[in-house]
Amino acid sequence: MVDYVGIADIQHLIEEIGAGEFMERLAGQIESDYKRWGEFEKSPRLASHSDVGVIELMPISDGGLYSFKYVNGHPKNTGEGLLTVTAFGVLAAVDTGYPLLLSELTITTALRTSAMSALAAKWMARPDSKVMALIGNGAQSEFQAIAFQRILGITELRLFDVDPKATAKIVQNLRAMPEMRNVTLVRATSCEEAVRGADIVTTVTADKRNAVILTPDMIQPGMHLNAVGGDCPGKTELHVDILHRPDVRIVVEYEPQSRIEGEIQQLAAAHPVIEFAEVVRGAAQGRAAAGEVTLFDSVGFALEDYSALRFLHDLIAERPEFCRQIDLVPEIDDPKDLYGGTLGSGKRRAKLRRAA
Ligand SMILES: NC(=O)c1ccc[n+]([C@@H]2O[C@H](COP(=O)([O-])OP(=O)(O)OC[C@H]3O[C@@H](n4cnc5c(N)ncnc54)[C@H](O)[C@@H]3O)[C@@H](O)[C@H]2O)c1
Repeated sequence: MVDYVGIADIQHLIEEIGAGEFMERLAGQIESDYKRWGEFEKSPRLASHSDVGVIELMPISDGGLYSFKYVNGHPKNTGEGLLTVTAFGVLAAVDTGYPLLLSELTITTALRTSAMSALAAKWMARPDSKVMALIGNGAQSEFQAIAFQRILGITELRLFDVDPKATAKIVQNLRAMPEMRNVTLVRATSCEEAVRGADIVTTVTADKRNAVILTPDMIQPGMHLNAVGGDCPGKTELHVDILHRPDVRIVVEYEPQSRIEGEIQQLAAAHPVIEFAEVVRGAAQGRAAAGEVTLFDSVGFALEDYSALRFLHDLIAERPEFCRQIDLVPEIDDPKDLYGGTLGSGKRRAKLRRAA
């Protein structure tokens, strides 16, 4: 039998633990996995593009555990009543190749992306950062707000979306959260207004084009930019001149993938960038001066999903009530008799238990 974490299980788990605590603990797991960067077999994700979106596979292994995520990105989906991003994934044992855990990763991707964003900001933003602009108030946005409140101690959020209903939705959701009681929520009437005076700017918009959410005139010395929404070839959020500023420090997850998908796809291949692993391992600084502009050019890397799946697997080992069992792999007496043990006349299915 294989452990299975579905939507109902994650809902149950987050109700019990709280999204903030989950993301803080997951950020710790991600950080410790980035510290052992050299142990991972890494590759840029495999992307299948269409005119309206992308479907991607994200594999990674550290020699002991292997994981992959299936994820899509379809910005037009919300107009049809569907999510822009959905995902699921598997954690497997390298020594047998057997899957250990099959999990939903739609909610978990939002949790892990926000945990990663806040973790990067912990290393890169000015320590006195209190005000964050949050541009793009769709599915990922509440998770970003919670992570930055919990991990960075943000006390003011400036919210903007081209869709006022999305901003009304996030305001309503955040107002219902006890942990947001001391966070001032400001509904901005434009991106410029939201960004003016902010210490941190998170862009998490969805648009399948080279959008220009942030322009050079909006960027102030000392700002930290957390650019989350640009994550595909031809899908970016920042004006290229921001990337060319002499005082900008650009940190990416995995350079070969980010050159294809990140904001830095707009730069020449030789333009210097820093990998986040160098920052957590002390080989590079996340921020060298208070007046520097720091940019975390996030696209989402397989290591973060590996960390999330491992974190979930460890959690359910302690708390089995947060998962179910599924008969994904046959359990038969003679492993060379797959036919006889499962479909043959004897149908020796005694050990092929059905999911409860
Ligand atoms: N980097 C990562 O690890 C990572 C992980 C998950 C999602 N993403 C990306 O994050 C983005 C957001 O995902 P989501 O699930 O929240 O999507 P969503 O469709 O639910 O929300 C996106 C929001 O952006 C708004 N928007 C679009 N253009 C805008 C503009 N010019 N100015 C302001 N707002 C604008 C839309 O109105 C919408 O409310 C997607 O592009 C997705 O691919 C990245």
